[in-house]
Amino acid sequence: MQIREANFDDIPAMLNIRLEAKENILRTILTESMVYEAMRTRCKAWVAEIGDTIVGFSIANRANKSVWGLFVLSEYHGQGIGRALLEIAANWLWQQRYGLLRRPPKKIWLETKQGSRAEGFYQHMGWQRGESRPHDEVRYWLIRTSI
Ligand SMILES: CC(C)(COP(=O)(O)OP(=O)(O)OC[C@H]1O[C@@H](n2cnc3c(N)ncnc32)[C@H](O)[C@@H]1OP(=O)(O)O)[C@@H](O)C(=O)NCCC(=O)NCCS
Repeated sequence: MQIREANFDDIPAMLNIRLEAKENILRTILTESMVYEAMRTRCKAWVAEIGDTIVGFSIANRANKSVWGLFVLSEYHGQGIGRALLEIAANWLWQQRYGLLRRPPKKIWLETKQGSRAEGFYQHMGWQRGESRPHDEVRYWLIRTSI
C-alpha cells in the first residue's frame, strides 16, 4: 500500500469511493467539479493505492483547519490505511500557518456520524469528541500539544 498526493485525475476514483461508503453517506450532491475547485484552492488530498487501484483517500481544508473527508473501500478496512491517510492529512494541517504571526493551528477538527465505526476509529486515534452537529453528526477535535 502506498500513500501519495492526489492529483486532479484521481477525482473520479475518489468520488466512487465516497459514494460506496455505507456509513457517513452523502447528504448533498458532490460533483467532480466541486472537488476539483476545492483541490485547486483550499484543499489538499491524498490517495492510498494498492497496485493500480485507489482504495482510499483523505482530503483536508486549510481554510477551516479541518479534515473534510476520509474514506477507505470497505473490503480494505482494518489494514492501517485509514490511519495512514488521517495522519498525513492532520500533519499537513499542522504545517499550515495563520495570521500575521504565521502561527500553526491550535486545534484541527472533523465531523462524522454519531455511532459510526469512524467514531471509534477517531477516538482510538486520539481525537476528542466535541459538540453534536446537525444531521446526527458529531465534531471531533485534535488539540496541538507542543508549540
Ligand atoms: C473510518 C475508516 C476511515 C477507518 O479506516 P481503516 O483503514 O479501517 O482504519 P485502520 O485500519 O487504519 O485503523 C487504525 C486503528 O484504528 C483502530 N480502529 C479502527 N476502527 C475502530 C473502531 N471502530 N473502534 C476502535 N478502534 C478502531 C484499528 O484497530 C487500528 O488500530 P491500531 O493502528 O492501533 O492497530 C474506515 O472504516 C472507513 O472508510 N469507513 C467508512 C467511511 C467513513 O465513515 N469515513 C469517515 C467519514 S468522517
